[in-house]
Amino acid sequence: MVSVRNVFVLFVLVAIALVSVQAQTIGIHTDATSLVFKVDKSGELRQCYFGGKVESSTYDAIATSGFAAHPAYGKDYVYEPALRVVHADGNLTTELIYANHDQRQLQEGITLTQIVLKDKFYPLTVTLNYKTYNHENIIEQWTEIAHQEKKDITLHNFFSSHLTFQQPEYWLTSFSGNWAKEMNMAEVQLKDGSKILESKLGVRANQFGHAAFLLALDGPAQEAQGTVIGGTLAWPGSWKLSFETDAQNNLKVLAGINPFASQYTLKAKEVFKTPALLYTLSTQGKGEVTRRFHKWARNHNGMHKSERPRYTLLNNWEATYFDFNEAVLKQIIADAADMGFDLFLLDDGWFANKYPRDHDRAGLGDWEVNKMKLPNGVGELVTESQKKNIKFGIWIEPEMVNPKSELYEKHPDWIITAPNRELDLSRNQLILDLSNPKVQDHVYGVVDNLLTQNPDIAYLKWDCNRYITNAGSSYLPANQQTHLWIKYVEGLFNVLKKVRSKYPNVYIMLCSGGGGRIDYGTMPFFDEYWISDNTDALDRIFIQWGTTHFFPPIGLASHVSVVPNHITQRITPLKFRFDVAMAAKLGMDLQPKDMTADEKAFSRNAIKEYSTFKHIIQDGDLYRLLSPYENNRVALMYTLSNQREALVFSYLKQKEIYGNNQILYMHGLDPKRNYTIKEVNNYGMNYSRIAHLEGKSFTGEFLMTHGVRFTM
Ligand code: GLA
Repeated sequence: MVSVRNVFVLFVLVAIALVSVQAQTIGIHTDATSLVFKVDKSGELRQCYFGGKVESSTYDAIATSGFAAHPAYGKDYVYEPALRVVHADGNLTTELIYANHDQRQLQEGITLTQIVLKDKFYPLTVTLNYKTYNHENIIEQWTEIAHQEKKDITLHNFFSSHLTFQQPEYWLTSFSGNWAKEMNMAEVQLKDGSKILESKLGVRANQFGHAAFLLALDGPAQEAQGTVIGGTLAWPGSWKLSFETDAQNNLKVLAGINPFASQYTLKAKEVFKTPALLYTLSTQGKGEVTRRFHKWARNHNGMHKSERPRYTLLNNWEATYFDFNEAVLKQIIADAADMGFDLFLLDDGWFANKYPRDHDRAGLGDWEVNKMKLPNGVGELVTESQKKNIKFGIWIEPEMVNPKSELYEKHPDWIITAPNRELDLSRNQLILDLSNPKVQDHVYGVVDNLLTQNPDIAYLKWDCNRYITNAGSSYLPANQQTHLWIKYVEGLFNVLKKVRSKYPNVYIMLCSGGGGRIDYGTMPFFDEYWISDNTDALDRIFIQWGTTHFFPPIGLASHVSVVPNHITQRITPLKFRFDVAMAAKLGMDLQPKDMTADEKAFSRNAIKEYSTFKHIIQDGDLYRLLSPYENNRVALMYTLSNQREALVFSYLKQKEIYGNNQILYMHGLDPKRNYTIKEVNNYGMNYSRIAHLEGKSFTGEFLMTHGVRFTM
């Protein structure tokens, strides 16, 4: 006999079963990874799996009940929320539930998944976007927030992404530094609360650290084993990465624009689009993370179109600093051509007349050619370069101004500063307020005029030498001062878009006083980047090691300069300086006439040899063999994907007296193919540490399993 009560219970169970059958499961896949979301009984979207690729039939077996996919402040959520909104009526809380989703292929290998969440009560939607680059295994994630409330709402937290992990251990690698010592890697175990990596600098926001991380889940990150997630935020403004372990040792990772002093008033129907976090999950260590990012950058990030030739250039900055004239530059151009460079780059100091740019205290902002130094204009130097059969490039810093300039005299209201405060100068300069459309037009005009007047300029070095302090805009209304950080970046992107649409073929270097602006949001507008003013070869090994974890080496301008110089006192051999610079995009920054005949001959040969193998650096897969953080011998190699050619770089940080027993095991080779070993960049040297290998052939298998040794 079935009692009425039992029948009722039975009915309820069936109903629950029906609901769970209908529950949404959303799988986001690349060739090697899966990210799985489920909608729970209350309608909340939960991240239930993130790991190696799984089939949808196995979701139920592997997926956990998971964690809120995009937690908002409200209901029972007590950790740092991905979203915090003050609604039009003053309500501080938000409760997001699943509304709908859509998944479509944008082109072969690229899929976009959009999941729309909505507040249970208020007309507010949050769209989570996941663009997957399936073959590169990169996920690009951003968020769009919109509402139709009766009045404006205020956004306080607006992170791009929230990822959760449930593991016994988490190891975080960060990339921090400062001017001339960028991209230092440090790894810590995460536990007991929050670890925050952030920038509040607004402009040149990477000076003290980069918005990039490695997160290892199987103990400290290894090169070729273990699960490692690598992520980097595509945004040049202030950023924040938050890693919070909860009371059960679950990890919540937030990435996005730094909410610091940035609350954003959002009008009804306006869409607030966050920048993207680009990330990948590798089950074969951090080496695979790197190769995926490089491949993705080559295929999808604009900057590194392989078909464009890469110019090896000579820059006059360290040759002359501000002290030059036409005759001096013509001599350098002649020397550059003679040494085999493709391009001469004229750096700072060529402009301004009322307040000549003879030092960094004046003239910035006044972009007419300085008539004392260059009476015949920039055009004369362009022509001179053409006569010598090399290209010409020029330095600009169009976002900045010295108070001692005609531009500042004319437009004192165009700079970023807080009212009723003294000007806070850094390198004697101020930042132009790019939230102001008139300033955007002006900055675009600086570039446009220069390139219209000198259509044969082939290359620009776009510099940016300070960050925001005393934030304030005389363009933005008083109640939108906190928008400045975001509006500046939008303004910058507007200018760059215009520049690029009119001048798609001019090469542009992204420079920011060394290390200050390297991110995948800005990079598509540029062809290469300047990671550090520090050209000391030993320091560079570390700087390049860190940088290339995420960013492609071929865009990484790496210059040989004289030692000692204004940064380093360390004297290192010219060959060593070349060997290090050649592992990225080679250039030089010195006065050729001060070089000896031997040094010139060595450099000439190095430049020539570099042109024969730079395609391997440009298109090759990077394998890190011996880390400078762990070994005296450092080694890395590039292998072309057709496995026909590979290039190995190896350095000793210090001289070794008793020999070096370190074996270099090669990677990425075809085990069956025969490889012949040839030393490069050894011109005029009377010794070789691999003479015993020169000209000999070995199978890829041998080189990968037995490796090679260097002699004393
Ligand atoms: C910055 C750059 C340097 C050089 C100077 C010129 O510091 O990083 O390479 O261009 O500006 O002032």
